[in-house]
Amino acid sequence: MVEVTAARLAAGVGWILVTAPVAGGASAPAALPGTARASASDATPAVPGRARALADVRPSVPPARLLADLLPPRHFADARFSTYRANPAYPSQARTVARLEEVAVAVAKPARKGLFGGRKRSAPAVYMDGGFGVGKTHLLTSLAHAVGLDASAYGTFVEYTNLVGALGFQATVEALATKQLVCIDEFELDDPGDTVLMSRLLRELADRGVALAATSNTLPEALGEGRFAAEDFLREIQALAARFEVLRVDGEDYRHRAVVTDSAPLPEDAVRDAVAGRPGATLDAFDDLLGHLSQVHPSRYRALLDGVEVVALTGVHTVTEQSAALRLVVLVDRLYDRDVPVLLAGSGDYAGERSLFTEEMLRGGYRKKYYRALSRLGALAEDGRAVARASA
Ligand SMILES: Nc1ncnc2c1ncn2[C@@H]1O[C@H](COP(=O)(O)OP(=O)(O)O)[C@@H](O)[C@H]1O
Ligand SMILES: [Mg+2]
Repeated sequence: MVEVTAARLAAGVGWILVTAPVAGGASAPAALPGTARASASDATPAVPGRARALADVRPSVPPARLLADLLPPRHFADARFSTYRANPAYPSQARTVARLEEVAVAVAKPARKGLFGGRKRSAPAVYMDGGFGVGKTHLLTSLAHAVGLDASAYGTFVEYTNLVGALGFQATVEALATKQLVCIDEFELDDPGDTVLMSRLLRELADRGVALAATSNTLPEALGEGRFAAEDFLREIQALAARFEVLRVDGEDYRHRAVVTDSAPLPEDAVRDAVAGRPGATLDAFDDLLGHLSQVHPSRYRALLDGVEVVALTGVHTVTEQSAALRLVVLVDRLYDRDVPVLLAGSGDYAGERSLFTEEMLRGGYRKKYYRALSRLGALAEDGRAVARASA
């Protein structure tokens, strides 16, 4: 059932389980403090004993919520500098924490104007570069907590590009410029258009005195490749590069959970039974969900999952259309942010999460996104199997 295969890992086939039990925050409500809930009034009323479908939820999300939602994911609700255990074998870890604590203090200080209203002292900008699982997201969320969630915006690269898509560039600048700190997790470099857009956005924010903190987007199997993401990052953000301070975070995957599973999808009956009458569970045919995702702006996928604790899908198959696959990647990120277990029943020749995308996609320009989604969905599907076992 569960198999540890280093060779498979090295070959980049399969996925890596990254599930870790969540302390405290696991049962927190889907909305974090300060988050306005989207109206889900146009969702089909729940039929007792039947799980509702994601495809019936049409979240209407006011722009204010898009901004209010820029918070650390539930999984990291309790992450703090004080809960980060720096490994003495890798001095860069303690160095990074110390530097980030200074940054938090500097950001929290009111911006000082020069004499006679001269130029403001420039706000700090840091980029954390390091391997998978060394705690970059833990540290980035800790920074946001240290500065204060009201004064910070926190999101992944994709969430910011989605925000620009939903609000427009200038409105996004205005909205984010009200914050003292903007955190961007997993800065992506695989789409030149998005990279240029984000560089422009960050430059505008830096010019307005907003502090910036970003992390590298490093894949589980991308040792070596991902470890020197800083070079590519600095080259791609061009003029902005001079302002960023690179913090290397060396080390190993903290969880040491490099487990590759190769378990088969669940039988459809088991999936249906596990979610029937379960509060907070949804049940969708995969094609219905893919169709629905094409109708909902990706910036609203978070709201789509309001109150959702378990997601069940039937008829899962290989996605052959790139745009559908990329939307699925965004949904998987949002599910992962919230630790939502996913139960998957396949159709036809579907052999498990790793056959979700085509070989061509896994070799193409977006392979980083696809492998991240496989890694995350693998973890959530493993949690889904536990849900199915518990209800059998
Ligand atoms: N040094 C550490 N001390 C405590 N927890 C850690 C440490 N490093 C990582 N973690 C935990 O391990 C998990 C993976 O870390 P994460 O921040 O997601 O890594 P990365 O973003 O670098 O891939 C998280 O749950 C995080 O809280
Ligand atoms: Mg991370």
